[in-house]
Amino acid sequence: MIVIYLLISAVTLLYVYLKYTFSYWDRKGFPSTGVSIPFGALDSVTKGKRSFGLAIYDMYKATKEPVVGLYLTLRPALLVRDAQLAHDILVKDFSKFHDRGVYVDEENDPMSAGLFQMEGANWRALRTKLTPSFTSGKLKAMFETSDSVGDKLVSTIKADLPETGSKEIDIKSLMSTYAIDIIATSIFGLDVDSFADPNNEFLAISKKINRLNFQDIVRGAALFLYPGLEKFFVRIGWKQEANEMMRELAHRTVDLREKNNIVRKDLLQLLLQLRNQGQVNTDDNVWTAESTKNGVKSMSKDLIAGQLFLFYAAGFETTASTASFTLYELTQNPEVMEKAKEDVHNAIEKNGGKLNYDAIADMKYLEACIMETARKYPALPFLNRICTQDFSVPDSNKVIKKGTQIIISLLGMHLDSEYFPDPISYQPERYLEDNKNYNKAAYMPFGEGPRMCIGARMGKVNVKIAIAKVLSNFDLEIRKEKQEIEFGIHGVTLMPKHGVPIRLSLKK
Ligand code: HEM
Repeated sequence: MIVIYLLISAVTLLYVYLKYTFSYWDRKGFPSTGVSIPFGALDSVTKGKRSFGLAIYDMYKATKEPVVGLYLTLRPALLVRDAQLAHDILVKDFSKFHDRGVYVDEENDPMSAGLFQMEGANWRALRTKLTPSFTSGKLKAMFETSDSVGDKLVSTIKADLPETGSKEIDIKSLMSTYAIDIIATSIFGLDVDSFADPNNEFLAISKKINRLNFQDIVRGAALFLYPGLEKFFVRIGWKQEANEMMRELAHRTVDLREKNNIVRKDLLQLLLQLRNQGQVNTDDNVWTAESTKNGVKSMSKDLIAGQLFLFYAAGFETTASTASFTLYELTQNPEVMEKAKEDVHNAIEKNGGKLNYDAIADMKYLEACIMETARKYPALPFLNRICTQDFSVPDSNKVIKKGTQIIISLLGMHLDSEYFPDPISYQPERYLEDNKNYNKAAYMPFGEGPRMCIGARMGKVNVKIAIAKVLSNFDLEIRKEKQEIEFGIHGVTLMPKHGVPIRLSLKK
């Protein structure tokens, strides 16, 4: 009998707890949506129907409210739909929303202390130190490395195409290899050719990181939704094998460089300058990193490994998908394709027949294409911040309480006809000076404000290199019928469900 009483009490308590938790937004006077106990807005994710970003997009479309309360399982979060308010949160009111509130434990788990995850003053200090690594001068100096990866992409495609006629290929898979090698060579400073050697160590680790087993899904969800739980997992020694392998590889590379005084023009070299000299050298011709501080290290190897790992996570899928979706859209929009080809051709001609950094910078129409791809397919479909100080929503009596998770659906805003006329059509012309016909506050594919993407310029250059090389070496067949890409249900980034097919032939 006592067991039955205990059971009834437990069920009643659980019921009251859930009802109370899921009434948070009512109690705070905010409208809410997706109130489905116990997974809330993530119900479709747990059923394997939508990815996180698409579930948030569904919530965006379900209402017209400027702000709307959600439940990310048991955790309340506020979806900011109004573009100006979202923009203000990221820029004007940054001091109250400076962190992302995701898992980070610098002391016990330095690999978690990437720039993306870091908070407060530590984030600010590191961001200031890293910023000089991403200037156009530094990117220009690193150009050769990316260029040679682009050449390998071209020769791999050439080897796969018939002498005459065309062949359909999954450009996403090739762009993923391209992006992996760009990161391995120009960020980690490794000698890697994944096109020729698909069994190399870096690619093997990357495959491990991107596999989707139960353990990785639990850890991924904890990182974002329940950072305290992830801290617990780390404390009890539940290691993530792939992260450890990446850490070990980064340590090994740092040791190799430092012991042998190897100097290369890549991001790791700039991190070594930070480690040994306290700052990144602002002279784009100076890449040496020997100690100027009597051997005192300003950055631990683990902290370097944490940044490299983050740059990998932030730059891999984003670069590969932006390049693939752009080529796909070109095959659906013949006029845009012609203009993009002409732009690439003219820029190369202007620079003495060479596809160099200046030619890439001159490709203004291609840049507009990439901007339009980044609108229609924001690689990261949502942004997030945590409210670090109570904040009154302007022109309302609502207060966002400290500790509230803020979500901004980039996919929602970028495909909202209130902000972008005819949002499904692909129009790079939107961004050309005379035509700007969109709401600028709603356009933020690289985020906005002091925490916007630090690698945006690098990402765009690498995407442009890949596209310019494909356009100058191959003919791309126009699709007879337009077809929108279907998105998959896995991962944080916006991923195609069935790859990105395009039909190519050798240039006549
Ligand atoms: C097409 C390529 C890329 C896209 C679309 C992209 C997009 C984004 C977005 C949307 C954010 C969040 C910004 C925010 O919350 O306001 C972000 C942050 C970040 N990205 Fe990128 N990214 C790209 C390439 C890269 C590359 C190549 C790197 C590094 C090598 C990189 C490093 C970072 C870092 C470190 C952050 C966190 C910045 C901070 O919190 O201070 N990204 N990126």
